[in-house]
Amino acid sequence: MKLQPNIKLNDFRLIQKLGSGGMGEVWLAYQEGIDRKVAMKVLHTEYLNDEEVIKRFIQETKNTGKLQHPNIISAFDAGVVDNSYYMAMVYVEGKDLEKQLEIDGIFNEKKALKIIRDIAEALKYAWDKYKIIHRDIKPGNIMIDKFKNTKLMDMGLAKSLVDSNMNLTMTGQILGSPNYMSPEQALSEKQLDCRTDIYGLGVTIYHLVTGIIPFDDPSVMKTVQNVINKELPDASDINPEISKQCSLLIKKMIAKDPNDRHKNWSAVIDDINLVIKGEKPKLILSKNKKSKNRKEVSKENKSNNTIFIIFILFTVLAICAIGLLLFFLKK
Ligand SMILES: Nc1ncnc2c1ncn2[C@@H]1O[C@H](COP(=O)(O)OP(=O)(O)OP(=O)(O)O)[C@@H](O)[C@H]1O
Ligand SMILES: [Mg+2]
Repeated sequence: MKLQPNIKLNDFRLIQKLGSGGMGEVWLAYQEGIDRKVAMKVLHTEYLNDEEVIKRFIQETKNTGKLQHPNIISAFDAGVVDNSYYMAMVYVEGKDLEKQLEIDGIFNEKKALKIIRDIAEALKYAWDKYKIIHRDIKPGNIMIDKFKNTKLMDMGLAKSLVDSNMNLTMTGQILGSPNYMSPEQALSEKQLDCRTDIYGLGVTIYHLVTGIIPFDDPSVMKTVQNVINKELPDASDINPEISKQCSLLIKKMIAKDPNDRHKNWSAVIDDINLVIKGEKPKLILSKNKKSKNRKEVSKENKSNNTIFIIFILFTVLAICAIGLLLFFLKK
């Protein structure tokens, strides 16, 4: 069925297309039984032959339906009409952060920190209570509604479908924007945990305060390689208005190795609160890192000692040579 205004999908009448993403089109619709506006995500037709994707689309809608948090937009209904698989969710009247960046430019530090604190609270709830991770944190999946509340979209949904469909992932068709994906996701590691979302939120705030789309490259595969191998310059080097504290917080959140990031959401939220107050985040290095650092320091000391000994030897030799020269000249 071709989606167009006035078409009905069960109780929902489509009004206007709001946008399109990796998984489907999003439409503003009107739910006649309850007399309210809703947002409908309708699965792209290319997935219709993929039973696994459809099964997970329905299953994950059910899973996320149980999430009840003021900062999470979860789906409340899912169904199918003439091969159009849809999920219905609360319609948010407002703009996503990607559009806000386009229209208003970069965010000031405090504003960005408060938004990401709301999202961190939402993700803490989903992880601590249900072990659900988002996997697709990015400015385009965060909206600010007309009452200035922060709302997280597509909870627990988008990237699990991506994971189930590697061929499409490889062509970059469904992947959309791999820029915010964690290195462990890019490496297709199976055991992901909340640190993947901590990373996603870190690169999101990086984009908000610097205006730079992280790791961007016209080639999707190159972007993925950048995510795995390249380090981002410090946020405060790009935007001098960003405090060193905020820059440090971001750096920890986007560490390539999940062991170097915050261990849980409480630690992230504590650090965000410290930075909002103008204080330094608690940058505790993991044990491995500490011993690695110690080894590096002792290696450095050893090479400094060697340079010093060589220097002394050269000086002694030079003095002897000059002495000998003077001795022969006098003769
Ligand atoms: N519940 C909603 N209320 C209002 N607008 C929405 C809602 N959900 C999504 N949108 C809008 O629809 C557009 C498309 O969303 P969609 O989630 O399909 O794409 P995306 O976020 O760019 O990619 P992804 O598939 O990775 O999530 C977005 O720009 C968003 O602003
Ligand atoms: Mg989305």
